[in-house]
Amino acid sequence: MSRKTPDQLRSRRWFGATDLRSFGHRSRAKQMGLDEADYAGKPVIGIVNTWSEINPCHIHLRERAEDVRRGVLQAGGLPIELPALSLSEPYVKPTTMLYRNLLAMEAEELIRCHPLDGAVLLGGCDKTTPALIMGAVSAGLPAIFVPAGPMLRGNWRAETLGSGSDVWKYWAELRAGNIGPEDWEEIESGIARSPGHCMTMGTASTMTALAEALGLTLPGASSIPAADSRHRRMAAASGRLAVEMVWQDRTPASILTPEAFANAVTIDMALGGSTNAIVHLIAMAGRAGAPLTLDSFDAISRKVPVIANIRPSGAYLMEDFYYAGGLRGLLSRLDGQLELECRAVNGRTLGENIAGAQVWNDDVIRPLDNPVYPQGATAVLHGTLAPDGAVIKPAAAEARLLNHRGPAVVFRDYNDMAERIDDPALDVTPDSVLVLQNAGPVGGPGMPEWGQLPIPKKLLQAGVRDMLRISDARMSGTSYGACVLHVAPEAAVGGPLALVQDGDFIAVDVDGRRLDLDIPEDELARRRAAWTPPLPRFQRGFGALHAEHITQADKGCDFDFLAGAAPTAEPEIH
Ligand code: FES
Repeated sequence: MSRKTPDQLRSRRWFGATDLRSFGHRSRAKQMGLDEADYAGKPVIGIVNTWSEINPCHIHLRERAEDVRRGVLQAGGLPIELPALSLSEPYVKPTTMLYRNLLAMEAEELIRCHPLDGAVLLGGCDKTTPALIMGAVSAGLPAIFVPAGPMLRGNWRAETLGSGSDVWKYWAELRAGNIGPEDWEEIESGIARSPGHCMTMGTASTMTALAEALGLTLPGASSIPAADSRHRRMAAASGRLAVEMVWQDRTPASILTPEAFANAVTIDMALGGSTNAIVHLIAMAGRAGAPLTLDSFDAISRKVPVIANIRPSGAYLMEDFYYAGGLRGLLSRLDGQLELECRAVNGRTLGENIAGAQVWNDDVIRPLDNPVYPQGATAVLHGTLAPDGAVIKPAAAEARLLNHRGPAVVFRDYNDMAERIDDPALDVTPDSVLVLQNAGPVGGPGMPEWGQLPIPKKLLQAGVRDMLRISDARMSGTSYGACVLHVAPEAAVGGPLALVQDGDFIAVDVDGRRLDLDIPEDELARRRAAWTPPLPRFQRGFGALHAEHITQADKGCDFDFLAGAAPTAEPEIH
C-alpha cells in the first residue's frame, strides 16, 4: 500500500480548505495556542482517554496520556486528548456492562466527529477494552490500544492476594467464621496497592491480552504492570506508532480478520480467560465483519490446553506472568496453533512479533505437555434449558459437579436471592442446583456479574465450597465455581430459564455439552402459556434504549443498530 500524502489526511478537510468553516477551525486552533506549524500536514491523533478520578484501574492514565502525547509529537503528529466514559468496575452501578455499548458509541462518535486522522485508545478496566475497540473498529480510522496494565500483587501477612478471587475466597471464610473482622480489614488494605487493573486472569487481563493477540497493541504491551517504567515507554512508543499507522492507512479492518479472531479465541483458552471475553469477542467480531459463534469457542477450547497458571484457574498473578515472559512467551508456546501471518498495528506479522520470545518460568507459563488443564477451558452447553447456549468454565469448578443432576432451588431475581440464600429454613442440600432468573441482558438489566451465586451459609459452615449454579447473568472473571452462565434466551424474554420451578430436576453434562431441564414437554408448554414478562425497569432514558435494542449473550450483547460492519458516512463539514 502506498504511503499517504499530507494532502490525503482526513484532518485536512477541517484545516486545509479556504472556506468560511476552515477559517473557524484555524482561528479556534490559534485560540488554543496552536499555529499552522502544529497541524499543517501533520496527522492529528486523538488520545481517547478513559481516565477518571473514580477509576482506580485507570488512575495513572492521565500521566500515560502525556507519554502518548510525547510519542505523537516525536513522530510529527498533533495529539488531541479526548476524555471518554471511564466505566469504573467497582463503582458504576448497576453494572458497567449496562454501559459498554454507550462507551462504544461514544468512542466511535468521538473519533468520527473530530478532525482526527488516527486514535490511541487508553483503557483496561473490564468493559473499557471491548468498548473502545468496538467503537474504533466502527469508526474505521487507524487506531492502537494502550492497555492500562495490571496492578502489582496484593499482599496480606505471608499471603499473596489476587483481585476478586481472594475477595470471594476470604468473604466465604468470614461468613463461615474462619477469619474475623480485623483480618478482613487487613485484607482490604493490602489487596489493591498500585494503579492498574485487576491482576488475576479476570476480564481485564483477558481482554487486554486478547487485544494484543488480535494485533491491536504493540507486541508485549498487555503484560507490563501499570507501575513499571516500561509501561510509560510503551505508551510513548504507541503514540509514535499511531502517527506511522496514519501514513500507512493501517486501519482496524486491515488487522481484524477472521483468522485474527480465531487466534484470540485460542489465546483466551490458553489463558483460562474470563467467560466475559466470549460476549465481548463476539461483539467485536460482529463490528469487524468477521462473525464468531459460541460454537467456535467450544471447538477451539477442545484443542487448546490452559497453560497460563494464573488465578482463578491457576496459582500465580499477572506480575508473575510478566516476569515469566508475558503474552509473547505464551504465544511462542502456541505457535503451532496460531495463524502466524496475521498482521498487527506495527505492520509485522504475528510470527515476526513473537520471534525470539522466551518463557523464563515453566510453572507460570506451562509447556504444552504439562498444562494447568488439558483442554476445554470454556465449554458451551446446549439443551432444553439453553436452546441458544450457555457457558461454563470447567477449570474453575469442582470436578464432581461437571456431570450432575439435582433439584432446582429457584430465585426469581437478585433481591429474592439476597433475601433467602442464608435463610436456615431454605430447602437446599449440596446436591441442589441454585437457579437465578431475570439477571440477563434485559432482565438484570445489563447482565450483571451475579452468576456466582453465594453458597448458602448453612452449607458453607458444613464445609461446602462449590455447588452447581445456573443463571442468565455473567460472572466476574476473577470468580470460580461450577457456574453455568449466559443462558440464552434469558428469562426476561421468556427463555426456558423463566419456567424453572423449585424441585425441577436439572442435568448438566459438560463432557456431552448438555444442559437440560428434566420436565415433560406438556408441562413446559403449560408454564410457557401462563408466563408473563417482567415489567420494564426503565420508562425513559438510556435504560429504555438498552432494553429495546440489546441482543442476547450468544450474539454479543451489542445494540442491534450498532452491530455489523456497514460503513457510516463521514460528517459533512459546512
Ligand atoms: Fe478494574 Fe477489575 S476493577 S479491572
